[in-house]
Amino acid sequence: MPIPEDRPIHLPASGPADRRRFLTVLSQTFLALWGLGAAAVVGAYLKAPEKREAERTVSAGLLADYRVGEGRLVRHGVTPFYVVRLDATRVLALSAVCTHVRCILGYEPARRTLVCPCHDGRFDLSGNVLSGPPPRPLPSYPVSVRAGEIFVQV
Ligand code: FES
Repeated sequence: MPIPEDRPIHLPASGPADRRRFLTVLSQTFLALWGLGAAAVVGAYLKAPEKREAERTVSAGLLADYRVGEGRLVRHGVTPFYVVRLDATRVLALSAVCTHVRCILGYEPARRTLVCPCHDGRFDLSGNVLSGPPPRPLPSYPVSVRAGEIFVQV
């Protein structure tokens, strides 16, 4: 229906009170959204990190690929470790980081010892210090063999 041209159109009045109300609602909305965002950031910061099984379990290869007595260095970030096959079924995992000044150890299969190239510290396959300056034994890690594959929990 067309609007007759002789009738005036009345728009709603907008005065300073309407603008003030609009700016108040706008600023409250902005502050509420900012508060939610800040709370989400703080919550994410305070939340404990999840320890996922898959991230902490490292494959060390197939058991059949290790000879009895053989040890291999597995480079896993800041926690490199040795996997040593003791016999037909038993495997162990020991830290490869010397407890003295954190040099990376070498493995001597003939003596079944871990040897530090820095100050000649020596460890047995239980992680015990045999000689040298290391102040503590080596940490060991749980090992499981599933479907012929070696998994180490670090
Ligand atoms: S760093 Fe290994 S014995 Fe000193």
